[in-house]
Amino acid sequence: MGSILFEAYPGLKNIPWRSLGNFPTPARKLENLGRELGYENIWIKEDDKSSDYYGGNKVRKLEFTLPDALQKKKKVIMTYGGVGTNHGLATVIHGNRLGLNTLLLLVDQPLTTHVQENLLLFQHFGAQLCYAKNTAGAVLKSIWYFLSKRNIYYLPPGGSSPRGSLGFVAAAFELKRQIDTGEIPEPKYIFVALGSKGTMAGLLVGSKLAGLNSTIVGVRVSYHWIANEKATANLANKVVDLMRKYDRNVPVIRFNGEDMYVLHDFCGEDYGAPTAQGKEAMEIIQQTEDIKLDLTYTAKTFAALLHFVRTQKDREHAPLLFWNTFNSVDLTPIIKEEHDYKKLPKSFHKFFSSNLIPYIQ
Ligand SMILES: Cc1ncc(COP(=O)(O)O)c(C=O)c1O
Repeated sequence: MGSILFEAYPGLKNIPWRSLGNFPTPARKLENLGRELGYENIWIKEDDKSSDYYGGNKVRKLEFTLPDALQKKKKVIMTYGGVGTNHGLATVIHGNRLGLNTLLLLVDQPLTTHVQENLLLFQHFGAQLCYAKNTAGAVLKSIWYFLSKRNIYYLPPGGSSPRGSLGFVAAAFELKRQIDTGEIPEPKYIFVALGSKGTMAGLLVGSKLAGLNSTIVGVRVSYHWIANEKATANLANKVVDLMRKYDRNVPVIRFNGEDMYVLHDFCGEDYGAPTAQGKEAMEIIQQTEDIKLDLTYTAKTFAALLHFVRTQKDREHAPLLFWNTFNSVDLTPIIKEEHDYKKLPKSFHKFFSSNLIPYIQ
């Protein structure tokens, strides 16, 4: 068994890879939501179900990055993100499964209960935590760790190295197969969160290679200097370069910032700060389909899809796909058990004694 990508390009079999998830993830129609909105052609790709341990979009990336660390004989994965990083949590959980430790360099983000829960989960799953405050602090600390320890594998924020993004090249091939077998119609638009860019960049490359005609619509949920058209195109080009290193049959395809569809109006004030539109979107999908989204990524992405449905004039109702990138494995029993935040390093205690940011009414 191997990644679906290896069938299309056998030379890629030399890329380190391990199966960590349950693929293909289901693709299905959101019937109740469609009826509620009067647009009966909305579909979901359920990457929330990508693993029984911890799902979401990170699993696909980790299938390529963690084995690379193992092949390079590294013992510790060092990565950074906001204090509530889902990517960090996914790395700790799946890293443990492969015998790898994780060092998380954490920077400030708006304080929500989700942030507090993830901090308790990092503690539970045995991550080494380092409070870096901001990006400059994280960069300095990562250089220090990197120079002082030999066994560290550096994973960029969101796991979005070109290697990690290969997971979403594979995801596009997986979707194409589901279309070819009639499980789902070819979407006209695929709405996906654009955070550290690996998900969108991988889907862009994969859809070109697999012959998918859908337009990938990235909904920016992170800072503009990270998540923008040019940077996404650059990452996509690096992904192609990496693939061609292993298999020259991968065609030379190039992406430009001008070709990207990125929506910038749904992020709100800040990365991690909830928006009223996101909150409404979250409630609608919860009520109609019993699907739980998160406020930082998927609620904002789904808000963009809702806006499209409500404002478009086209009576044809072209198929739309919402790519659910949030985990749906319920970890609340662990959070309840691990409620003592004082076990965390002291620098993190303030995240439990400060006020949560006001939740939009
Ligand atoms: C739930 C969720 N969705 C989407 C994203 C964004 O994906 P990417 O960082 O690949 O752009 C993240 C990133 O952390 C995430 O946690």
